[in-house]
Amino acid sequence: MKWALPILLLAVTACDQSPAVTFTDVSITLPEDKGAFPDRPGRQAMIANCAGCHSPSMILTQPRLSEEHWKSTIKKMREVYKAPINPADEPDILAYLTSGEAAAQ
Ligand code: HEC
Repeated sequence: MKWALPILLLAVTACDQSPAVTFTDVSITLPEDKGAFPDRPGRQAMIANCAGCHSPSMILTQPRLSEEHWKSTIKKMREVYKAPINPADEPDILAYLTSGEAAAQ
C-alpha cells in the first residue's frame, strides 16, 4: 500500500486544478420589450405589485381569464413565489386585469 498516499495526493491535487473561469462578455443585451401597462384604472397597482417581476407584455398577453382565476393567480404569486403583493391593492389589480381589450368578458 506504499503507492496509496502518492495516488491520493495526486487525486487531491488534480481536483484543485479546476479550469479558470473566464468571462468574455462584459455586457448583456436584454430582449426588447416596448410594452407598458395601458392607462386605465388600476394601472398604478399593476406597476407597484407585478412589474417588479414581470414585463407588462408578459401579463397583457395572458389569455382572457375570469376574476376567480386572477384571484388564484395572485394567491399563487404570493404563496409560491413570495411576491409582496399589497392586499389593499388587490381590488385595483383585479379591476385592471379583468378590464380592457384582452380581459375576460
Ligand atoms: C416576486 C416576483 C413576482 C411578482 C411580484 C409577481 N409574480 Fe407572477 N410569477 C412569478 C414567477 C416566478 C412566475 C413563474 C415563472 C413565470 O411563468 O414567469 C410567475 C408567473 C406568473 C404568471 C404565469 C401563469 C402562472 O400562473 O404561473 C402570471 C399570469 C403572473 N405571474 C401574473 C402576475 C401578476 C398579475 C402579478 C401582480 C399581481 C405578479 N404575477 C407578480 C413571480 C412574480
